[in-house]
Formats: sequence, structure tokens, C-alpha cells
Amino acid sequence: MRILVTGGAGFIGSAVCRRLVLQTGAAVINVDKLTYAANLASLASLERLEPYEFLQSDICDREVIDLAFADYEPDAIIHLAAESHVDRSINGPGAFVNTNIVGTYTLLEAARTYYERLPLPRRKQFRFVHVSTDEVYGSLGPNDLFREDTPYRPSSPYSASKAASDHLALAWFRTYGLPVIVSNCSNNYGPYQFPEKLIPLTILNAIDRKPLPVYGDGKNIRDWLHVDDHAAGLIRLLHEGKPGEKYNFGGDAERSNMEVVTQICDVLDRLSPTTGMRRSLITFVPDRPGHDARYAIDASKARRELDWKPTRTFEQGLAETVGWYLKNRAWWERTRRGAYDGSRLGLLASQH
Ligand SMILES: NC(=O)c1ccc[n+]([C@@H]2O[C@H](COP(=O)([O-])OP(=O)(O)OC[C@H]3O[C@@H](n4cnc5c(N)ncnc54)[C@H](O)[C@@H]3O)[C@@H](O)[C@H]2O)c1
Repeated sequence: MRILVTGGAGFIGSAVCRRLVLQTGAAVINVDKLTYAANLASLASLERLEPYEFLQSDICDREVIDLAFADYEPDAIIHLAAESHVDRSINGPGAFVNTNIVGTYTLLEAARTYYERLPLPRRKQFRFVHVSTDEVYGSLGPNDLFREDTPYRPSSPYSASKAASDHLALAWFRTYGLPVIVSNCSNNYGPYQFPEKLIPLTILNAIDRKPLPVYGDGKNIRDWLHVDDHAAGLIRLLHEGKPGEKYNFGGDAERSNMEVVTQICDVLDRLSPTTGMRRSLITFVPDRPGHDARYAIDASKARRELDWKPTRTFEQGLAETVGWYLKNRAWWERTRRGAYDGSRLGLLASQH
């Protein structure tokens, strides 16, 4: 298969590209604008391989995207390009509206034009996998789970822009018959994640023995899925998912932010001991505005219909991830010096 991946230089996109090329034998063209969140070093293992190509472009650039479809003639698209960090969406929502909404619209239109010209057998095979988040569903009470039919109630500019893009993607199926499949996944963690999100930020600060910020009271709960399990799920979705449907992916690993941070401290104390326990670096900081209390996923549809399940526990995955950041200083040191130094994002002027 020839697959056009968007956002392949990001955290999840690079895991998808590596898996597609190295494990499934697919050919990939990665279309990525290379924002601050991109890192081509995550794709070093593919650089010289013939089935892998890279095209630097904004997904909002219709002309370039049309040319990419015409030249590359993909059998499918896996769309991951996005502005993805909630805190940045609080400080600057414009980029989220552009990339996540206008960019997805642009891709849907380019894909539709391309799809309508395909011969029938290739049209039957074509898929547009739209990768989204569980954050579109809003915040849960203590006992519920997000299901595919849970109504959308996004809280942040990020999740609202992703919700809009999900609605556009499914409308392109219902109105134009474009074979779109939507995935909504819980928080991902693993190697090659840009160190602005909770897990890599905490790991790097803890390695450097810097304060470990915990928002509010640390009791907000997220479900965690290892990025390689998510990538495997997206590839199953491409082959087995039904056009026009939504699939939730989750790790059955609900943890409070405080539990995650203390666990990272304990793993690091074990793998890289220093004087004093790293838990003493934990610092409570003002909460994120509009911070959702809890996310949790019912992934039974993906398990049943895609024969997919996570392959590792959160404890195994977290220990592996901490080990990876310890061994791959070169990958993240440049980022910490350049694109983002770890300082607090996402506060309103009144909270400073
Ligand atoms: N990280 C998570 O926990 C998580 C969970 C569920 C869903 N998602 C979704 O998965 C997708 C990937 O997330 P991620 O964590 O890998 O994000 P990321 O921020 O690590 O990477 C995003 C990539 O998209 C590229 N990009 C951004 N704007 C672009 C544009 N206008 N044109 C072309 N490329 C552009 C960036 O350069 C970057 O390489 C996103 O759609 C996100 O909403 C993420």
C-alpha cells in the first residue's frame, strides 16, 4: 500500500511511519510542515529507505496537497498533523483553528477530488483515517467511560478544534461518500514525545533535578496508551475499520497526574540514582483554566471489531519510556535548548 501520512515528523506520526515502513512493508509519503513540535531525527531509521519520502508542506496549502495526491497516488491517508498541546491552545488558539479545522477541511477536499477520479477498484480500497482525541468528549465524573456515541463537549480551544475536525470528517463521509474513519484516542506516551507534555516534561526535569510542576491538586485523571500500541491500532483501523464510523482507543490505564509524576520519580531513582528522592522535586502550580477532571475510555469496539488490544501495561511502558529518555539525550537536548525550554505555558494573564 502507498500511504500519505500527515504530521509524520511528530510524536505519534513518526511511530506510525516507522511501523508502516519497517514492519508492514508499506510505502509512505510524510507530509509535515515541521513546526516546533516536529523532529526529523525521529525518522532517522527511515531516511535512506526507498519506500519512505518526505514532503515539507502546510496541510492548509491546497495546491501542494493536490500535487502530492496527484504525484504520489496514495491508497490511503492517515491524517495526524495538528497543533496538539492544550496549554499552547490557551495562549494562541489561532494556529489550532487554522491547522486543525482549516487544514483538515483542505485535506478532505483534496482527498475528495482525488478519490472521485480513482477507478472503481481503487476507490473501494481508499481510506481516510482521521486521528483525533478523547478530549472532544469533555470531562467525566468518577464512574463513566467515553463511548463512541458519547456527545461532544470539548473544553479547550485544542479539543474544540479537534471536535470541529471530527464533525467535518464525518460530514465528508455522509455527504460525499468519502470513506473516512475517525479514531479517538486517550493520552499517548512513549519515546520521541516532544518534552512539553506531562510525561516527557516530568522525565527531563527529573533527570536534571529541576522542579516537577503538578497542576492544581494533581488529582486530574487521564487514561494512558503507549504510542506503539496506538500506532498498531491505527494500522488495524486502516485495514479493518468501517468507513463512516468512529473507534475509541485507550490503554485501560487510568492514573491521576500525581500518580504518574511520583511513578516517574521512583523509576528514575531506580534507573539513575542520585542523592535524595526525586519526589521531593514535586511542586504544585496553578491549575490549567478549564482543566477536565477525568478521561476514561471504553475501547471495547476496537477490541471486538479490529482485534486490537494494548500489548503492555502502563508500568512496563513507563519504565521503558524513562529508559529511552535516559539513553537518548541527543534527541531531546537540542529541543530543550531551542524549541522549548520547559517553562510554564497556558496561564491566563490574571493567573500570572
Ligand atoms: N499526543 C496525544 O496524547 C494524542 C492523543 C490522542 C490524539 N492525538 C492526536 O494525534 C495527532 C498527532 O499528535 P502528536 O502528539 O503526535 O502531535 P505532535 O504535536 O507531536 O505532532 C504534530 C505534527 O504535525 C505537524 N504539523 C502541525 N501543523 C501542521 C500543518 N499545518 N501542516 C502540516 N503539518 C503540521 C507538526 O510539524 C508535527 O510534526 C494529533 O492529531 C492529535 O490531536 C494525540
